[in-house]
Amino acid sequence: MKNLKAPSTSEEFDKSYQALITPWGDVRIPQELKELAETNKPKTSLELGCGLGRFSSFMAEQGIQATAVDFSPVAIEKAKQRVANYDHKPTFIVGDVTNLEILTEKFDVSFDIGCFHCLNEESEKKYVSEIYRLLNPGATHLIWALNASPSDIRLTPEYIAKIFDNSFQLAKAKFSRRRLVSSHWYWLVRK
Ligand SMILES: C[S@@+](CC[C@H](N)C(=O)[O-])C[C@H]1O[C@@H](n2cnc3c(N)ncnc32)[C@H](O)[C@@H]1O
Repeated sequence: MKNLKAPSTSEEFDKSYQALITPWGDVRIPQELKELAETNKPKTSLELGCGLGRFSSFMAEQGIQATAVDFSPVAIEKAKQRVANYDHKPTFIVGDVTNLEILTEKFDVSFDIGCFHCLNEESEKKYVSEIYRLLNPGATHLIWALNASPSDIRLTPEYIAKIFDNSFQLAKAKFSRRRLVSSHWYWLVRK
């Protein structure tokens, strides 16, 4: 695995998205995301690292005002084209999850399916402070992340609780085999 270098910059992700399929192309809507929409009943949602945007499209179809960010302009362009004729579509934005000053409004929920594990430790801290700024108090941030991150950080519930500690409470962590890899779902509640 060490020899297979995962993409980490926006240029590297652009190249992946120029291909017909990406290695992370599981387009099924996770039950955890469905429950976030059903249980929390958010009016607004923010997705970090949305890629081709299928998960935020699902949120928009539920009547939620969905905003989705990714730093790959190729992914965002493809995401926009895919929903061009949809009645309910997300707002897709090219942006870096470590600096989202382009966004100023507060969101009811946020989620990240496969982006957090791309970050190094310095970027993780900036990400935490940005979603803290962008979420309403009590709002849930849902993450799905690999245990063995491509950025070489071992992501465990203990690690996540510590990184988010000052501004979020780790309400729940659940082991997952999504995409057949050892990973976790994390539910973090903004303090
Ligand atoms: C493994 S892909 C998952 C994409 C999508 N969530 C999915 O499951 O299909 C990770 C995504 O995070 C994005 N990403 C990684 N680091 C980012 C950053 N610092 N800012 C914004 N997006 C980032 C990548 O461009 C890529 O689209």
